[in-house]
Amino acid sequence: MKTAIVYHSAGGNTKALAEAIYSFLPEAKLFRVKDFDLSTISQYEGLLVGTYTWGDGDLPAKIIPLYEELEIAQVSQLVTGVFGTGETNYNHFCGAVNRFRDMLFANTQLAVTLKIEQMYQESDLSRIKKFTEIYKEKLRVQQNKLVK
Ligand SMILES: Cc1cc2nc3c(=O)[nH]c(=O)nc-3n(C[C@H](O)[C@H](O)[C@H](O)COP(=O)(O)O)c2cc1C
Repeated sequence: MKTAIVYHSAGGNTKALAEAIYSFLPEAKLFRVKDFDLSTISQYEGLLVGTYTWGDGDLPAKIIPLYEELEIAQVSQLVTGVFGTGETNYNHFCGAVNRFRDMLFANTQLAVTLKIEQMYQESDLSRIKKFTEIYKEKLRVQQNKLVK
């Protein structure tokens, strides 16, 4: 198993974004965070995390166990990316993406991040595609490193 896309969405914006990403990575497995078994992380070569932002730039409660697992698990070889939706009229636009980005940068092979204003638009598709291309390239480089 190569890539897991794991997302949390309350209103559907992040779900739609996760599905758009999945459409460019059909070989991945797509999970709502509540359906994702944290003990399976080590089975994947790559993980893409999707989240909206809550409160004042905060992580929504349901994504915190995934965040905490990634902080302590042996995931230094895992290729990762983080994407999310938010609203630019809040002080910390996509603050939850920033929180994941900083932690994943320290603990994993972070490849790429993506922030989208609420529901993605047709005009965002080129950025979404680029996100998946950068991720795939990093995964390819990492796989070559691991076989050497
Ligand atoms: C109470 C509340 C607090 C929010 N705080 C933030 C925030 O700090 N930063 C941000 O970018 N968006 C914030 N948002 C906006 C949501 O993250 C945004 O609408 C997002 O697209 C929702 O995603 P979903 O439809 O997947 O649940 C907040 C929304 C609510 C209702």
